[in-house]
Amino acid sequence: MSIAAVAGLVFLAAQGPVTDVPVTTTTVTTTTVTSASAPAPVSTTGPPALAPASTTSSSPAPAGCALTPGTVRNGELLWGLKKSFRQYVGVGLGGATGNSITASGGASITNLDEVVIDGVPNPRGVPTGAYRFSFDSADYTSPSRFTAKFRGTVALAYPSHFFTMLISNPQVSTSDGTTVLRADVELRTQPGAPANPVALPGVELGRLTAPAATPSGGLLTWPSVPVTLATSEAFAGFYQTGADLDPLTMRLGADCADTPPPPQTATVAPPPASSGDDLVPEARFRPTGGTPALAATGADIEHGLWAGVVIVLSGLALVLAAYRPRTRGR
Ligand code: HEM
Repeated sequence: MSIAAVAGLVFLAAQGPVTDVPVTTTTVTTTTVTSASAPAPVSTTGPPALAPASTTSSSPAPAGCALTPGTVRNGELLWGLKKSFRQYVGVGLGGATGNSITASGGASITNLDEVVIDGVPNPRGVPTGAYRFSFDSADYTSPSRFTAKFRGTVALAYPSHFFTMLISNPQVSTSDGTTVLRADVELRTQPGAPANPVALPGVELGRLTAPAATPSGGLLTWPSVPVTLATSEAFAGFYQTGADLDPLTMRLGADCADTPPPPQTATVAPPPASSGDDLVPEARFRPTGGTPALAATGADIEHGLWAGVVIVLSGLALVLAAYRPRTRGR
């Protein structure tokens, strides 16, 4: 375990129990293929982890459409960063509040590979699906030599752990058998965080095992490519270099290519409808064991009733006291 992780745990221990989520009764459903511990050869025949059935184009490839340095014009990058991190931020520990995951500038949060707990996707109202970064530009020579740039920013914020992480403008480069994923990575921290802020523009974030794919109908598809972390700095030492990140799916298309529609964006269930007289949130993450579970407020019904009786009697006494002198004076 890294120093930063130990620091986080020590900090946490000093704060008291951080999680009251009953681990034994919680089922986390993993809906995607997780990458193996060692980079494995990519199967281009298996189902891509980040491509739902709806993105499979059924129309025939346009005749004569070819992906060339002159025609490359579109594409997309589907990547979830690291699912356990999406869960850490998007679900939080111990009922954390204020956490958020947002996408902007050409990125979106899809419904692919969402965190599902006890059958509920995005259980804390934070979208936890993988991200889609839109095509920006490409310097394309061949399927084994290109740089493809994608656009957008994803921000993952965990206020009570004092950090916001931003991942922006990823790009995939492959040449001479080496394939890397670069991105602008920024870790913003607040006082109390167990790590310093980090700004790593264009850092080599991941190493990829590129498939030997060839374009079809002007479209090059890399489905579910394994990615490992290239620098532990990007996560302030919370993950070690070489750690498995989520597999990514990349498409690069010619202007004439028939590209699949983008995946659906994540939908987060609105909070349960309130009748107007019950504003107490659902008790999912309250401490277990020991009574009373909640702090006493002193505002129980019995005290309220007696207070009402005393106020009414006091009012009556005042009225009587004010009435008598006037009666005597007449
Ligand atoms: C710079 C600030 C921080 C960063 C970048 C950070 C990042 C991370 C990362 C990447 C993980 C691994 C998540 C996973 O894949 O399961 C993690 C786990 C954890 N963090 Fe933080 N963290 C920060 C601050 C804190 C603080 C202040 C605390 C304590 C209050 C904390 C408590 C924990 C705990 C307990 C885990 C383990 C969660 C688990 O295994 O389920 N972290 N953190």
